[in-house]
Amino acid sequence: MSILVQVHSILRWVLLVLLIFSIVRSFIGWIKHRELREGDAMLWLFTMICTHTTLLVGLILLFFGRFGILSSGLPEGVVLMKDSFYRFYWVEHPTAMILATIAITLGRGQVKKQITDPLKYKRAFWFFLVALLIILAMIPWPGREIVGRGLSINFPNPCRGFISFS
Ligand code: HEM
Repeated sequence: MSILVQVHSILRWVLLVLLIFSIVRSFIGWIKHRELREGDAMLWLFTMICTHTTLLVGLILLFFGRFGILSSGLPEGVVLMKDSFYRFYWVEHPTAMILATIAITLGRGQVKKQITDPLKYKRAFWFFLVALLIILAMIPWPGREIVGRGLSINFPNPCRGFISFS
């Protein structure tokens, strides 16, 4: 299962890069009153697909992961909302990330709306920006007490164990 944690962790970086590009491109499109460009619509689509994939992996981890609701359950005597580790990984992080996923999906959905292209760019900009702020706030960054995780991702190396980027 730790492979899925690594996939989830790597997708976080891909998602952040795609989302920041989507924000910059939608802002430029809005400010310059551009016609919607195929490349921007494609970028928004890839951002949404990456988010939905991260969400799917997150859901699997939430229910079947090493601290999963169905796989391990709450340890004896632990009260969910009083335990900052389980409250974060079972409630706060999933809820916030699902809200961010909805915002990104709505942002990408502007492509199909019957509105002017500059307005599509403007609305997409605000949906993507809100999503980015939620995601940045709810990623378990290093240094966060109890829930914090490393930035690193470990690639298995059959010769010498693991190559780690820290
Ligand atoms: C969509 C945006 C999301 C991002 C950017 C994100 C990011 C992360 C990161 C960086 C970690 C730490 C991974 C590590 O240990 O290196 C993590 C862990 C986790 N995430 Fe997410 N996540 C997202 C969505 C979700 C969703 C929607 C859920 C559940 C519904 C979820 C459930 C989890 C769980 C359960 C863990 C802990 C896994 C474990 O250590 O076994 N995540 N997430």
